[in-house]
Amino acid sequence: MSKAFGTPFGMTKNGEEVRELVLDNGVLSCRILTFGGTVRALTVPGREGPVDVVLGYDSLAQYETEGGYLGALVGRFANRIAQGRFVLDGREHVLACNDGPNHLHGGAVGWSHRVWTVEALTAERAVLSLDSPDGEEGYPGRVQAKVTYALEGEALTIHYEAVSDRDTPVNLTNHSYFNLAGHDSGTVLDQELQLFCTSYTPTDETSIPLGRIDPVEGTPMDLRAPVPIGARIGEDFQQLVWGRGYDHNFVVDGQPGVMRPAAVARSRATGIVMEVETDSPGVQFYSANFLEDGRKGKGGAVYGFRHAFCLETQHFPDSPNQPAFPSCILRAGEEYDQTTRFRFSVQGE
Ligand code: BGC
Repeated sequence: MSKAFGTPFGMTKNGEEVRELVLDNGVLSCRILTFGGTVRALTVPGREGPVDVVLGYDSLAQYETEGGYLGALVGRFANRIAQGRFVLDGREHVLACNDGPNHLHGGAVGWSHRVWTVEALTAERAVLSLDSPDGEEGYPGRVQAKVTYALEGEALTIHYEAVSDRDTPVNLTNHSYFNLAGHDSGTVLDQELQLFCTSYTPTDETSIPLGRIDPVEGTPMDLRAPVPIGARIGEDFQQLVWGRGYDHNFVVDGQPGVMRPAAVARSRATGIVMEVETDSPGVQFYSANFLEDGRKGKGGAVYGFRHAFCLETQHFPDSPNQPAFPSCILRAGEEYDQTTRFRFSVQGE
């Protein structure tokens, strides 16, 4: 079915064809791959012309082999599950441990590495679907997921839907690496970030939440007023030391299930402002601390340490094992429904 839409981008190692879809509403344009439902480019107006604000690759082989989940849709469970184990409805489920002792981003072959089907495509909207069989990566139940990318004026909206035939954890996000000065412009340490988050979930040294919800006040995790990302990233604060920088789930103020502001980021170089709104309980702010120097990106760009930031709207990490966290369990027959919106504008000098 996908074959009818977009243009060819390459063949996976397994011989599956991958297509690239282009959305353009005259304000924003983006390129989406059927591989991982990946946002490969997102071009937005800047003070001096259009700027591509997401990191990406020119070849499918890089998407298949290099780590980092650049631009991908992540599932069935984004972020970590401790020791790759959880108990649901009295049964233990065992998942791959692909991040040290823990399960990360859906496992050995998460949804980020599967080819999605194109259900519909217009100039401003792409609808992708994925059928995840019962037992995939150790998860219970067959999940049928649908993700809609829509350009709406100055915003890119991502709408995630899923149903399952058995109870199962579901936590979907998009793992775009943003750099509002341009994907090829170097570090983001001088870009400003504000998080509408009064608390966060501190972790152990393997990035598994301790179960507590701590106030950000009085710590470098306090990003409630806009600050350059680099302002406090180097402080001797245990959470930042363990994460090699920011790599934490922040609790979005207000009520989960209701659209509300999560973050605002800004580059003074291009004037680009990105506002993030979501109905998710949390957002992972990750300052690309594991993006190694010298990685080859689009159009000859060279990416490196902290050349981007991710704002992954999500359920809290390890939710399947943390009874105090908002439930991430999609009950059989119920509907998973989550929306995140990235709105772009340009600010003067
Ligand atoms: C995680 C990081 C990880 C990155 C890429 C983020 O969501 O929190 O620890 O390195 O994804 O895999």
